[in-house]
Amino acid sequence: AEKQLLAGKTITITAGPTREALDPVRFISNHSSGKMGYALAEAALALGAQVNLISGPVNIAPPSGANLTLIESAEQLLQASLNLAVQSDAFIGCAAVADYRAANVAEQKMKKQGDELTLTLVKNPDVIAAVANLKAQRPYTVGFAAETQDLANYAKGKLHSKNLDMICANDVSKTGLGFNSDHNALTLFWQDSSLDLAISSKTDLALNVMKELAQRL
Ligand code: PMT
Repeated sequence: AEKQLLAGKTITITAGPTREALDPVRFISNHSSGKMGYALAEAALALGAQVNLISGPVNIAPPSGANLTLIESAEQLLQASLNLAVQSDAFIGCAAVADYRAANVAEQKMKKQGDELTLTLVKNPDVIAAVANLKAQRPYTVGFAAETQDLANYAKGKLHSKNLDMICANDVSKTGLGFNSDHNALTLFWQDSSLDLAISSKTDLALNVMKELAQRL
C-alpha cells in the first residue's frame, strides 16, 4: 500500500546548488551537495510517483527511474522548472539557488588587478515564487527555507511571500545537519499548521515529507 501512495502523481524536485558564472573559469555558488533533494526524489519514486529531478552540479548518482535535467545557473533552473511544473502535481524547490548573479559575465578570464576587486551583482529570478504564481496548471508548491536564526518566523514569511502551499524549514547553523551532511531536521509549515521532524537521516526525512505531501494531493 505504501508503495502506491503517490501512484499516478508526477512530482518535480529541484536539488543541489546553482553556479553563477563570473568568467569562463570562475563562479559563485554554495555548499549544497544535492543529498536532501536526491533523497526526496528517491522517496517519491519509492511511493510510486513519476519523478522529474532538476539538478545543479553535484557528486552523487541520480536515482534510477527519475527523469533528470541538469542545470547550472538560476536562469536555467527557472526555464527547466516552468517547463516541468505545468506537467506536475507537485513541485518541490530544494535547490539552493543563488539570490544574485554577476551583472556582467566576462568573456575572457579576468586578469588579476589591484588590491581590491568590486563585483556588481543583480538579483536572480525567484524560481519557486514563479512556479507558485502560475495562473494555469499550478502544481502544489513546496519550498525549503535554509535559516541560521529565527527559523519559524523566516520560514513562515517565505511561505506567505512566495505564495507556497508548504515549506520545509531547516536550521543550517547546526554542525552535522543541513548543507552537505547525511542528516537533517525539518519543521514543515502550512498556512494553518506545522510539524516537527526530528534529527534523522535525509533518507528518513524525505520519506516523511513525501507521506505528508501525499495526504495533500
Ligand atoms: O543539498 P544538501 O547538501 O543536502 O543541503 C540541503 C539544503 C540545506 C540545501 C536544503 O535542505 C535547503 O534548505 N534548500 C533550500 C536552500 C535555499 O536556497 O533556501 P532559501 O531559504 O534561500 O530559499 C527559500 C526557497 O526559495 C527555497 O525553496 C529555494 O529553492 C527557493 N529560491 C530561492 C532563491 C531563488 N532565487 N529562487 C528560488 O526558487
